Amino acid sequence: MTIQQPTDLTHAAMLGLGVHRPERVVTNDEICEVLDSTDEWIQTRSGIRTRRFAGEGETLIGMSISAAEKALAAAGVEAAEVGCVIVATSTHPEHTPASAPQVATALGITAAAFDISAGCAGFCHALNLAASMVRSGAEKHVLVIGVEQLSRFMDPTDRGTAFIFADGAGAVVVGPSESAGIGPTAWGSDGSQAHVITQTPSCMGLRSHTDADHPVVQMEGTAVFRWAPFAMAEVAHEALRLAGVSVDELDAFIPHQANLRITQTLARNIKLPDTVAVATDVIDSGNTSAASVPLAMEAMLRQDEASAGDTALLIAFGAGLSYAGQVVTLPPLAR
Ligand code: UT7
Repeated sequence: MTIQQPTDLTHAAMLGLGVHRPERVVTNDEICEVLDSTDEWIQTRSGIRTRRFAGEGETLIGMSISAAEKALAAAGVEAAEVGCVIVATSTHPEHTPASAPQVATALGITAAAFDISAGCAGFCHALNLAASMVRSGAEKHVLVIGVEQLSRFMDPTDRGTAFIFADGAGAVVVGPSESAGIGPTAWGSDGSQAHVITQTPSCMGLRSHTDADHPVVQMEGTAVFRWAPFAMAEVAHEALRLAGVSVDELDAFIPHQANLRITQTLARNIKLPDTVAVATDVIDSGNTSAASVPLAMEAMLRQDEASAGDTALLIAFGAGLSYAGQVVTLPPLAR
């Protein structure tokens, strides 16, 4: 007996991008009403001026649906044509069930739908899965969503996290294309640094904690700061090598929006020419973890710092520690 397998190998690309930015803009001064810090310290150390927090009625699932609808419209793809939905998130409030089936159903999709957790690198992981599915012929269109509602998982008095993390969603439709629009992914992990970014207490740990009703994100920021700009420079070089693209052939560099200083050091370490546009959405949006790369892509396209069809290097890193990067062709936005 022979097991039938699709053999129509094809190229994959991002066909459309959509985002949901929550309405509520939160300034550093508002953060410092509770946090022992200052607007000047936050801007100097992280670059962040404002971030957005989901308001009443804005949920992780709702933000995902909103971003996905715009991505489908930008791609000109009907919900019924989607063969798989992947949601990258670390802040869906339940371990079970996953968020993706509810997002899919709200969009009128009955295809496979599941969540993945790879911290701030989740979107770039999901993009690799989606591209692999499309390239292999397993699915024609895959919806990838990066979404976070970190404001629900923060201690507003924690000086290490309260000013950094924020909320939002970004989605892309991955589908077949005439040329490769998503390069091979350079990815990896380092579980020996699992303790560096955690949700504390763990869900089980809550049982023995009398003073906590939900976990919050905790981070050894300096440890991440020492690791990311150097380790991610190697990942950037690997992603470029795999794609056969040199650093001066890039139009845009869109790293995870963790901290403006990390972005700037990373750009220096990979010897990025001044001609390459660099994503700086962290200034307005804070660190939205798995949503940060698609949100940063959207900001660059909206502000005409980059155009659909441009060549960009994506790199993301975070809890796990996990990381992934790939060279891509930027997708169109819904207008
Ligand atoms: O997205 C997932 C990956 N995460 C990241 O990439 C985050 C990476 N890390 C960072 O972005 C930075 O480490 C932070 C922005 C979190 C912190 O910046 P830093 O330059 O590493 O500051 P630090 O923790 O070394 O603290 C420097 C000083 C200390 O004071 P002394 O000892 O020099 O007198 C801290 O006590 O700043 C003090 N400090 C603060 N002051 C005001 C620490 N946090 C704060 C604060 N406000 N929030």
